[in-house]
Amino acid sequence: KGDGMPSVDPLRIVAKEMKFLTGNIRKLLGSGHPSLDRAAKYYTQAEGKHVRPLIVLLMSRATSLCPKAPQRQQATAQASAAIDTSISPLSVLSDYNPSAAALEAAEAANPSNDPDILPSQRRLAEITELIHTASLLHDDVIDHSVSRRGSPSANLEFGNKMAVLAGDFLLGRASVALARLRHAEVVELLATVIANLVEGEFMQLKNTARDEANPRWSDETLTYYLQKTYLKTASLISKSCRAAALLGGSDAATVDAAYAYGRNLGLAFQLVDDMLDYTRSEQELGKPAGADLELGLATAPLLFAWKTMPELGALVGRKFEREGDVTRARDLVMQSDGIEQTRALAEDYAEKAIAAISPFPDSEAKDGLIEMAVKTLKRNK
Ligand code: FPP
Ligand code: MG
Ligand code: MG
Repeated sequence: KGDGMPSVDPLRIVAKEMKFLTGNIRKLLGSGHPSLDRAAKYYTQAEGKHVRPLIVLLMSRATSLCPKAPQRQQATAQASAAIDTSISPLSVLSDYNPSAAALEAAEAANPSNDPDILPSQRRLAEITELIHTASLLHDDVIDHSVSRRGSPSANLEFGNKMAVLAGDFLLGRASVALARLRHAEVVELLATVIANLVEGEFMQLKNTARDEANPRWSDETLTYYLQKTYLKTASLISKSCRAAALLGGSDAATVDAAYAYGRNLGLAFQLVDDMLDYTRSEQELGKPAGADLELGLATAPLLFAWKTMPELGALVGRKFEREGDVTRARDLVMQSDGIEQTRALAEDYAEKAIAAISPFPDSEAKDGLIEMAVKTLKRNK
């Protein structure tokens, strides 16, 4: 940041837990059916950024120092101990039986002698990545995407049917792992996330609230976009932050602060994502660039441009379908201050995220959460 503050590496703070993330996720996805096994694990091969698990683990550690809710604490500790990590990748189809030997092996490979982060919170981190990856499998089908994380997309590699089914399988296994946390409120939160992802995608398909031929810019335009953005991106991050605090037995104020952090960070994250779609190349992103306009989507940079350039309304109305629409829209966005305004809004949300956790006691993990917000603004892929 250039303000002389020593910058922390968020990954280093939870490196021990992150080291086991992909291996554990692959265990959760084991299927005796070879081609399902391959499709389900496909997006775990290329190293993703693992933003969501990283946030969950940092939040778990940061909130471990916060005040606890009196009654909950005991029950939570017991539920955590009962979690099983024993899914054999060789199990037959949907067989998901824990065996004592496998459980011990998993525990040995996966030391949980860190008092700050509970086994249930580590499992929550894995579940968030499973739900996110499921949504990517479905998203790439919906978006007709051909690449993801620098490799061919799952739909290109296996076809639409298997990609959709693989996504469903991930959600199934995420649900089982979630149920095994034995925490009804956390189950409810993450189940709501899955519904929210679909709601966000539907709002995006409709583009505007009324979906007219020649829409006019109004304040509702931005409200609708932000609501959609909450549902498709910030819901998972915010509700999993909330869940992490709940699993740790935090008091109500801490749980709400964790949620507010996730909500604001999630909004900032997607605003930056929508900005990068205009400013970066396919090579830089590892996935198609300029994809949003091609998909008929009006995101923040265009919505800000539209406010001062009413002619964009007609293009939005016909989803940039006509020959030359995409190029025209892109040119207008580039002439406007839409990119700068998007960045400014992302900065506002990142600041709000940081402010939300300011009551937390100082810790490395808290610094890591702050750094995540700073990095969100700086990222270029
Ligand atoms: C990526 O957005 C996609 C999402 C954040 C969510 C997509 C949600 C669904 C397809 C709903 C149904 C799925 C499940 C599993 C509940 P993007 O297309 O803007 O990003 P990209 O550039 O990475 O493709
Ligand atoms: Mg997509
Ligand atoms: Mg999409």
